[in-house]
Amino acid sequence: MNNKPKVIDLFCGCGGLSQGFIDAGYNIILGIDKWQDAIETFNFNHKNSNGIVADLLTLSPETVSKNEKIDNVDVIIGGPPCQGFSIAGKRIVDDERNQLYKSFLHYVEFFKPKAFLMENVPNIMSIGKGAIKEQIIIDFEKIGYKMSNKILLASDYGVPQNRKRAFFVGLRDGSLFDFPEPTTPDNKITSMEAISDLPEHTLKDGESYSSDSKSNYQKQIRNGNKVVFNHQITEHKNKTIEIIAMVPDGGNYKSLPKELHSTRKVNIAWTRLNSNRPSFTIDTGHNHHFHYEFNRVPTARESARLQSFHDDFIFKKGKTSQLKQIGNAVPPLLAKEIAIKLKKHL
Ligand SMILES: C[S@@+](CC[C@H](N)C(=O)[O-])C[C@H]1O[C@@H](n2cnc3c(N)ncnc32)[C@H](O)[C@@H]1O
Repeated sequence: MNNKPKVIDLFCGCGGLSQGFIDAGYNIILGIDKWQDAIETFNFNHKNSNGIVADLLTLSPETVSKNEKIDNVDVIIGGPPCQGFSIAGKRIVDDERNQLYKSFLHYVEFFKPKAFLMENVPNIMSIGKGAIKEQIIIDFEKIGYKMSNKILLASDYGVPQNRKRAFFVGLRDGSLFDFPEPTTPDNKITSMEAISDLPEHTLKDGESYSSDSKSNYQKQIRNGNKVVFNHQITEHKNKTIEIIAMVPDGGNYKSLPKELHSTRKVNIAWTRLNSNRPSFTIDTGHNHHFHYEFNRVPTARESARLQSFHDDFIFKKGKTSQLKQIGNAVPPLLAKEIAIKLKKHL
């Protein structure tokens, strides 16, 4: 542990981003999130880390440094929720909605890590015609970081999901960060490769796999595991099952008779995974996206597979909470690729 780069993960959730850094050989010394459920999962899976429940609007880095006895940090990572960014002209204003971002900035300013990685939704790059992006760059340059940024597509990096995320990397040594080149641009992992070994029915936590692995991805993601956790199916109403049964593999509400088109008021409703493609972006459990074959939504384990969590990463609390923790996460495999590249700069 001693010679691994030391990392603090802010807004760590269940620890998807952290997991990628651990897999790349980093030591996550601290994770902070205000959500108890997510921290329970974080601590269960990251035995060498310390996840604490705290509100980052009020917990200052000075207090963290003192209470957790941390004086030296190599990297700060995290995804402050910034959906509500408010700007005046080209500036991020000091109102409540921006305080989580400001808190991340303040932690970086206080600990002065060699590098930081900030993750966010892709449209952070375009809102206000790029004004937010420019302001983020200016804010961190002011405190001594050379900034790089890019939107990455998870399915380019071996994740069976077309999830896009924006990343900002700052380096204190003045060099520019080279984002990793895609590893699977032409051979993307499909949703069938990811989940076809998991059955239609529930498996009790700790029950054995009901079949052998059926793809290289499944073999890797099982990670030597013999038993399954978090594969509890959702029991839908008969009407829901009847409707989704009419949608083919990869289809959506457009395959339904006209009178059923507007049964749900969102255009992502009644969407089935396409077995021959990576999944669409896993959400936080809205029951609009269905398995490519079975007439039900994916289980937490299937969703975790589509996010590239290994099968021995176990989600705590109830099913609704698990799906939210998973949908919130950065895919560990994508995080790992960035983390490997970042090591060369440390
Ligand atoms: C997008 S999720 C982070 C996912 C995480 N990076 C991962 O890869 O698993 C954002 C997290 O911010 C947390 N959060 C929101 N407001 C917060 C606050 N004021 N203080 C601490 N955590 C907060 C949420 O509970 C949520 O877990």
